[in-house]
Amino acid sequence: MEYDNIFILRYMGNKNKLLNFIVPAIEEVTKEGDTICDPMAGTHCIGYALKKRNRIIGNDIQEYSYVIGQALIENNRETISREEAESELLNAYLENQQKQIFSFFYDNYADTYFAGKQCLAIDSIRYAVERIRNKYRKALYLCCLMHAMCKVQSTPGHFAQFMPKEHRRILPLREMDVWQEFLNKCDDFKTVVNNGLKNEVFKVDYKELLINFEGEIACYYVDPPYSGEQYSRFYHILETVVKYDRPRLQYKGLYRADRFKSGFCYKKLAEGEFEFIMKEISKKGAALVISYSDKGILPVQKLKQLGRKYFRRIELRRNSYAHSTLGKGKNDINEILLILK
Ligand SMILES: C[S@@+](CC[C@H](N)C(=O)[O-])C[C@H]1O[C@@H](n2cnc3c(N)ncnc32)[C@H](O)[C@@H]1O
Repeated sequence: MEYDNIFILRYMGNKNKLLNFIVPAIEEVTKEGDTICDPMAGTHCIGYALKKRNRIIGNDIQEYSYVIGQALIENNRETISREEAESELLNAYLENQQKQIFSFFYDNYADTYFAGKQCLAIDSIRYAVERIRNKYRKALYLCCLMHAMCKVQSTPGHFAQFMPKEHRRILPLREMDVWQEFLNKCDDFKTVVNNGLKNEVFKVDYKELLINFEGEIACYYVDPPYSGEQYSRFYHILETVVKYDRPRLQYKGLYRADRFKSGFCYKKLAEGEFEFIMKEISKKGAALVISYSDKGILPVQKLKQLGRKYFRRIELRRNSYAHSTLGKGKNDINEILLILK
């Protein structure tokens, strides 16, 4: 089955390539028109794949994910194109190239994750996008900017570290033109799925969403981190480009100092996080579909045990695939789905 899918980021744990494994499981426990909630949505590819069929509530603690959610999930009417980008943004882009009114990237990241001229182009696109009034258009353009940044980055595939100057792959990456990569992406958003429903996106800790969201949800799709790597460290640059809040930076990787630490990334806390989720969702009488890995911090057996405590029906599905470890080679990992009702 071909599900709706607009690729935006190469993202750790992204389910873009697993839509055919995951989406049918969510469809099996819901009806058309039901509300589905994705409380740790990352790139929102699962919500987007289901959007034609369902009302979607998306959430993630990271602001860049919120922006993707605004563009793909909440947005039912705005579209952009390369042509529109040129006419709406080029003047402001050139103004900033000359006057450097926005220069945080140039001042802080030149010759680290990007070349100096790439940093200035990022600042200039961000300056031009800041002038767009409509929040969904702005979000669509920010998605294209994030995509361009991920394409030209001189890193192993995430922003926890940058390549040393002598790395053999660095020269062609540093030559790439951020403005052209940005424009090249815009036509991907010439159409965006419109389901005519009030989809909503939030940027809170999932616990807050589970406790405070009012309204009936038929199924929660939960896809938490499964390793010790914090998303806030791997993608700090994306957080900063969307917020453009000129944060205090620290360590060699120039990370934002205010990084969120997820409990799922700690051996001591992961079980408690899962137990909270299962308890709250079973109380609501909703179905729960969990994505996890058999190499995760919490053993699959433990997850099943917890599932049996809170739900009557429980099913485990496995899907083997070569999982990209972002620069550390390929690992065979079993992606698992736990379906609870
Ligand atoms: C495995 S990724 C989700 C990937 C997503 N399904 C996709 O296909 O792109 C896990 C996500 O959980 C988010 N996250 C971690 N802890 C969270 C928390 N306490 N509340 C909300 N989001 C959280 C991370 O920011 C990250 O985007």
